[in-house]
Amino acid sequence: MVKIAPSILAADPLNLERDVRHAVDAGCDWIHVDVMDAHFVPNLAYSPDTVRRLKEICAVPIDVHLMMENPGTLLDAFLEAGASNVTVHAETGNVRSLLRRIHQGGATAGVALKPGTSPDDVKLYLEDADLILAMTVEPGFGGQKLDERVVRKIRELRDIGYDGEIEADGGIREDNLQMLTENGLTVAVMGTALFRDTDMKAAISRMHQMK
Ligand code: DX5
Ligand code: ZN
Repeated sequence: MVKIAPSILAADPLNLERDVRHAVDAGCDWIHVDVMDAHFVPNLAYSPDTVRRLKEICAVPIDVHLMMENPGTLLDAFLEAGASNVTVHAETGNVRSLLRRIHQGGATAGVALKPGTSPDDVKLYLEDADLILAMTVEPGFGGQKLDERVVRKIRELRDIGYDGEIEADGGIREDNLQMLTENGLTVAVMGTALFRDTDMKAAISRMHQMK
C-alpha cells in the first residue's frame, strides 16, 4: 500500500492546524514538511518550531525535507523538534555524515535527488539511506507539473536492488500515481492535488489501493 504524505506547503498557512488535522483524519500516513532556506531553492518555509507543534498535535510521522544549502546548521534543531524522518539533498554534499547524524538523532534518514540529478549520485549511500526522495519537480514550489522522466529513475533504483522507501514529491495526482507505484514508489508527497480535493478521505482511500 502506497503511503500518502500531504505536503503542508499546500495547506492554508493561516489555518495550518485545521488543514493538518483534516489530512490526518482523512487517513494520510505521514505529514511532509518542506523546509526551504531561500538559497538552495528560491523560497522560504518552515522552522523547527513548526515541526515541534505538528508533533504535538498529530500522531502520524513528521517527514522533514530539508531543501537547504547547509542542512547541517539546523539538523539538530529539527531532530530535537521531533522529526520522524529527515531527508537531505545529495546535491549539498556531506551526505554520509548527515545521514549518520540523523540516525544518531533517532530519525530515519533520506537522500533527495533533483529531477536532473543522476541516481549514480546516490549509489554510494544506498546502504545508509532508509529513503530515497526522487523529486518529480524542480524543488521550491508546489503546483508544478510532474516530470515523467523521473519514473525511470525510480525503476532504476529498484533494478539496482534498493529496497528502502522510495518517495516522490511534486505534481503527484491521483491520475499519475499508479505510473509511479508500478515502478517501485512507496511514499507519495502530495500538496496541491490533495488539499484541493473536495473529498480527501475518499481520494486517500482510493490511492491506498494502488500497488
Ligand atoms: C517542491 C515542493 C512541492 C510540494 C508538493 O519543492 O516540495 O513538491 O511539496 O507539490 P504539489 O503541490 O505539486 O503536490
Ligand atoms: Zn518535499
